[in-house]
Amino acid sequence: MDTFTITFIGGGNMARSLIGGLIADGTPVERIRVSDPSAEQRSQLQGLFGIATFADNHDAIAGADVIVLAVKPQIMQAVATGLAPALSGVKPLLLSIAAGIRSTDLHRWLGGHVALVRTMPNTPALVRSGATGLFARKDVSREQRDLAETILRAVGLTLWVDNEDLIDSVTAVSGSGPAYFFLIMEAMEEAAIQLGLDEESARLLTLETALGAARMALESDVGPATLRQRVTSPGGTTERAIGEMQEADIKGIFAKALTAARDRSRELSDLLGSD
Ligand SMILES: NC(=O)c1ccc[n+]([C@@H]2O[C@H](COP(=O)([O-])OP(=O)(O)OC[C@H]3O[C@@H](n4cnc5c(N)ncnc54)[C@H](OP(=O)(O)O)[C@@H]3O)[C@@H](O)[C@H]2O)c1
Repeated sequence: MDTFTITFIGGGNMARSLIGGLIADGTPVERIRVSDPSAEQRSQLQGLFGIATFADNHDAIAGADVIVLAVKPQIMQAVATGLAPALSGVKPLLLSIAAGIRSTDLHRWLGGHVALVRTMPNTPALVRSGATGLFARKDVSREQRDLAETILRAVGLTLWVDNEDLIDSVTAVSGSGPAYFFLIMEAMEEAAIQLGLDEESARLLTLETALGAARMALESDVGPATLRQRVTSPGGTTERAIGEMQEADIKGIFAKALTAARDRSRELSDLLGSD
């Protein structure tokens, strides 16, 4: 579908990053609409992007090819059941970006007759370096899958999973992942200051090193383990540092942390989808 009309239900942080990405990718502003109950949000969105905004979700979805559900998970059931009657005769693609809402629950709340793609984006979408996992229910057409991918690709990498359970794993890796790297940066900064560097130098050296390592790993044709071995000379400083981290079982810590995040994602889905 070359030109599509897209409506965002909820005009908060994630909706804004997606709208910004779509406009930068060439989607005409007159094809984008947002519905949000807050007059302040609506006026900000109009000012930022020049798009049409609505206070009422039903007004906003009339004639839309894609509806992006971008409200908080806790209010998704109320929003979805409110939209259901308006979706019975029309066939837009529904795209959820909500964390912890299973597609079976959302599909049921939406009335049971919609094409639905569940996605899990992450916060670097705000700077168009996001990573999003996508899962399509089986009634989603090839064209609709492409459309979902086009929308999320406007803010970064997209990756399909065939089994929805894997969205919990995506949540544990890339959904929560930015915070793990922020924690590592925080720890490196603090250690650098303890070693005598001033705050600004500690931060700049840490952040550029993180960025440089990520770029190298992305551009390299070998994996991170090989890259690490290549910069670890026997008897050198890196070897000594890595030895300390291995002694503290750094891989075991990550395995435990990601498993805990995956399990929490399952628990939240059980909780949010219980009705
Ligand atoms: N932020 C992230 O990093 C991230 C990452 C992955 C997934 N997500 C998912 O993205 C979704 C949105 O997150 P966010 O961070 O963008 O939240 P947000 O900034 O709070 O945006 C949600 C927006 O929805 C509006 N809203 C509330 N009730 C509504 C209704 N009945 N109809 C239409 N709009 C309504 C809110 O308005 P008020 O503020 O006036 O209530 C707010 O502007 C969530 O489901 C979250 O799980 C977020």
